[in-house]
Amino acid sequence: MLNQEVYDKVQAEFKAKFGAAGEATAYAPGRIEVLGNHTDYNEGYVFSAAIDKGTFFTASKAQDDKITLVAIDMGETYETTLAEVAKVESGATWANDPLGTCNWLFDGRRAVAKTGFKAVFGGNIPLGAGLSSSAALEMAAALALAKIYGIEKDRTTLAKIGQKAEHTFAGCPCGLLDQASSMYGKAGSLVKSDFRTNEFETVSMGPSVAFMMVKSNAKHALVDGAYASRRQACEDAAKYFASVLKKPVTHLRDVTMSEWVLYRGGLSETTAKRAAHPIGEDERVLLGAELLAKGDLKTFGALMYESHESSRNWFENSCPELDTIVDAAAALPEVYGARLSGGGFGGSCCLLVDPSAADKIAAHIAKEYKAVYGDEPACSVIKPSDGAHLV
Ligand code: GLA
Repeated sequence: MLNQEVYDKVQAEFKAKFGAAGEATAYAPGRIEVLGNHTDYNEGYVFSAAIDKGTFFTASKAQDDKITLVAIDMGETYETTLAEVAKVESGATWANDPLGTCNWLFDGRRAVAKTGFKAVFGGNIPLGAGLSSSAALEMAAALALAKIYGIEKDRTTLAKIGQKAEHTFAGCPCGLLDQASSMYGKAGSLVKSDFRTNEFETVSMGPSVAFMMVKSNAKHALVDGAYASRRQACEDAAKYFASVLKKPVTHLRDVTMSEWVLYRGGLSETTAKRAAHPIGEDERVLLGAELLAKGDLKTFGALMYESHESSRNWFENSCPELDTIVDAAAALPEVYGARLSGGGFGGSCCLLVDPSAADKIAAHIAKEYKAVYGDEPACSVIKPSDGAHLV
């Protein structure tokens, strides 16, 4: 569905349900992760982009303290009150992203928001594809609710509110990448993030390349513990490096690949493998920035392949379906680079491609994937797009 159609649907549903137009509507896009995997919570670097699909969230203040959330894609409504905002443990767990966002946005909430609100939201980001549909929902909710309650917070603070909602309501100890990409995206550009300083810079890509997302049919769920265990291994490794290196280390961002080679012997085999991934990814993002500045997209693409190999061998957050897609992509000269995008363990691959060959690439990957799994992955060309905004 086109963004305009989603917007119209959300507006029509709001009017039908609440009898008047909403006071504010916000749009927030999903994201692709291009280079730099599991580096965000290690205070490292990432190249990402906001995509041209997202979520619209329309809201008005209520007369009383009631909160009504209508999810049109789910065809469900959830009701609670301002005083009772809490994590939904079962059933309408889809409500956790907007509820968590409003909980932290209204920090000390009765002081800020004297009444509840009614909201309708809907979007066109494929779910479970690793395109951060939940971050899009959090950022759209944050912008629309901030607007109706007159809360002034900068974009990074709103992104952190969404991240806190993920940690406490949705149950994933994620970094800030998804929310920041949704907030800071720019049409035709990549977002280069530094998650130590929280500086978000945009880098123009030029028209000769495009991204393709190829969605494996392997289920992607980050709340089942695999993401958390990877994060824990990185934190354990950082503590170890802090004890052996003669310099301050708080996160793996502070460790170089040469230091890893020299000191890895003091870590368990598994922890050493996990640590190698974000350390190598940081180095690839920094090198990638130099390559982009020179317009060397082919070598940038080679770093994407290296990134996938690192996921496959060190971090073990790939899966056979994602590997099949990357291996199929690597056989085509029109694909410059391919890697898994986001948390991993399923979801999608991100490909850097020659846009004139998109159909050929999609057909080739579909054929190779079908030969192994019997079904076809969904392929789409992604246009890096503007970030979240009020409509
Ligand atoms: C998920 C998380 C992000 C980030 C990526 C991996 O998308 O939500 O914070 O850690 O995985 O880079």
